[in-house]
Amino acid sequence: MEQPILSGIQPTGKLHIGNYLGAVSNWVKLQDQYDCFFTIVDMHSLTADYKPAEKSQQILSTVIDLLASGIDPEKSTLFIQSQLPEHAELAWYFATLTPIAFLERMTQYKDKSARQKENINAGLFIYPALQAADILLYKPYGVPVGEDQLQHLELTNDIARKFNARFGKTFELIKPLLTKTPRIMSLLDPSKKMSKSLGDQHVINMSDEVKVIEKKLSRAVTDTGKSGQMSAGTKNLFTLLENFSTPDEVSFYREAFRAGNIKYSDLKGNLAKLIAHHFAPYRKKRAELEKNPDYVMQVIATGREKARAIASQTLQEVKTKMGLVI
Ligand code: AMP
Ligand code: TRP
Repeated sequence: MEQPILSGIQPTGKLHIGNYLGAVSNWVKLQDQYDCFFTIVDMHSLTADYKPAEKSQQILSTVIDLLASGIDPEKSTLFIQSQLPEHAELAWYFATLTPIAFLERMTQYKDKSARQKENINAGLFIYPALQAADILLYKPYGVPVGEDQLQHLELTNDIARKFNARFGKTFELIKPLLTKTPRIMSLLDPSKKMSKSLGDQHVINMSDEVKVIEKKLSRAVTDTGKSGQMSAGTKNLFTLLENFSTPDEVSFYREAFRAGNIKYSDLKGNLAKLIAHHFAPYRKKRAELEKNPDYVMQVIATGREKARAIASQTLQEVKTKMGLVI
């Protein structure tokens, strides 16, 4: 079998255009070329503060989001991480191979620990070992993610190398697959990546209606347009324009920026309409899927079986090589 592709997303709420432009739009494209596995990493999401009563709904909602975005269960395997105990089991074996010093270097761990000071749990610390297990169980060729995940993918390769050196060649090194827009910035603080943890006004959700997007964009940070230097916020708006508009329109605004007479309110109003229009089919499909829970549950059950067939094989190979099979 040709080598597959694998990626994962945490079920923490609505998808935003950063998730879409950095990862999910790529997943939709890649499923035409590769055998793809996409997992909802609910076990990872437990390392952040959460409400147990909301979690199952968030998991289902993320499955629906991916289907509505164009992930086709005929082409891709969509599954829930916690439904395959193989992931947690391999994560433990990998944890025994991962130097603490490597984990201490992870910027996501440092950022999250700074944000959730009351809840710096051990799961947050060994999070990358679980991510390495998610990935290597499927022996993929590449992993399509946003730029913030590159460090975790390097650690995955470190673990693969360590495993191979100690127990014999088992895993190929994986390649990160980035889009042209691997890092979309926050609207209100363009020095930070767009992330729902910053607050709803920092992000544009794929489900946001045009009025909501207009309001959020109207507050987005830009510059006076007079210095000739493009600020981070303006660059981010141009990135969005390049993704949702036509080359002619992009040139028009670039020219206006250069001439120093750009009207940001005009650009933002147009951009809001373009984004809302782009995601109209997504919103429609999402509403349909919400009325069809049986279908969604069926996709999840099929995904679980397909993923398990592969994950269980790799785990058996790992256990044999580590000396656990008696
Ligand atoms: P998460 O919601 O953190 O599980 O992220 C899901 C995927 O979206 C990962 O591949 C991230 O790298 C990607 N992603 C998240 N935020 C952004 C962003 N602001 N720009 C680009 N990609 C992103
Ligand atoms: N850590 C990733 C994120 O925050 C989510 C993730 C977990 C993942 N397991 C993965 C991504 C495996 C790619 C492959 O976005």
